[in-house]
Amino acid sequence: MSEHGHGHGHQHGHDHGDLDWSVMGPVMEREAEVSLPLYREIAGWAAERSERVPGPVVDAGSGPGVVAALLAEIFPDREVYAVDAEAALLERAADRAHRTGLQGRLHTHRAELPGGLDALPAASLVWAGRSLHHVGDQRAGLAAFGRALLPGGHLVLLEGGLPPRTLPRELGFGRPGIESRLDAAQEEWFAGMRESLPGTVKETEDWTALLEAAGLRHVATRSFLLDLPAPVPYETRAHLIAQWQRRLDHVELDPVDRATAHRLLDPEDSAGLYHRPDLFLLSAQTVHLAVREE
Ligand SMILES: C[S@@+](CC[C@H](N)C(=O)[O-])C[C@H]1O[C@@H](n2cnc3c(N)ncnc32)[C@H](O)[C@@H]1O
Repeated sequence: MSEHGHGHGHQHGHDHGDLDWSVMGPVMEREAEVSLPLYREIAGWAAERSERVPGPVVDAGSGPGVVAALLAEIFPDREVYAVDAEAALLERAADRAHRTGLQGRLHTHRAELPGGLDALPAASLVWAGRSLHHVGDQRAGLAAFGRALLPGGHLVLLEGGLPPRTLPRELGFGRPGIESRLDAAQEEWFAGMRESLPGTVKETEDWTALLEAAGLRHVATRSFLLDLPAPVPYETRAHLIAQWQRRLDHVELDPVDRATAHRLLDPEDSAGLYHRPDLFLLSAQTVHLAVREE
């Protein structure tokens, strides 16, 4: 549940470039699976606060469909549409639907956001999980999410939160606080990603105001923790190693941090990520809930 340079999104409508989806697909899927306790809590919270308008559920920017399948489970009487621009990710969503017996109810729809939702039936719930920030014009994106809703339908917008922490400040070697320095680099990467989006618009990310401007009524904002303390299970460790690799892909580190990173990613080093008993995952995801009034 972090961005850390998936890099996808900014290339939509252009050359899909250097991304190898046979690698990124499984990485994204495992990341979403590791984050499932968080998504389950968010979906439960949103479901509790939403009046029961009958109608389909749309996962806008679904990626590999982990959350779409969760939504299908939480809303057992609804059709669910996983919408994404990447065919390889939707294939994973379709496979998941088959594996879990959801194939009759969990549909995939390949489309570019924000316009691509127009082809779907109006929804009782639109879930936008860290997908809006990949849309150049976020204001227009929110308006499209709003148009995709039935009267009384809800938008669950996951944007903002805190970057993950995975290691103690003092690692036992190197200079303390390497993750804070990676956060700063991540902000630079993110700004560059947004700048390179087609039709990008600089916008104050006051989500409440933007939701209201899109004709929706803001209902609530809350942040949820993903809190996986040490010792972490194998899948979480595998996810965190991949995440560290991605975080390090984008950054210029000074020689001390470079040496620290090298040790952390060395499978043979007993103080590295592959073996450390103190590896954990703590992050926060902010969620904004809004309703399209009758
Ligand atoms: C950060 S990932 C989040 C995936 C998923 N919602 C989750 O929370 O695990 C963003 C997703 O949005 C998709 N995406 C980005 N820009 C898009 C666009 N313009 N149209 C459709 N999908 C897009 C990406 O392919 C990716 O699957």
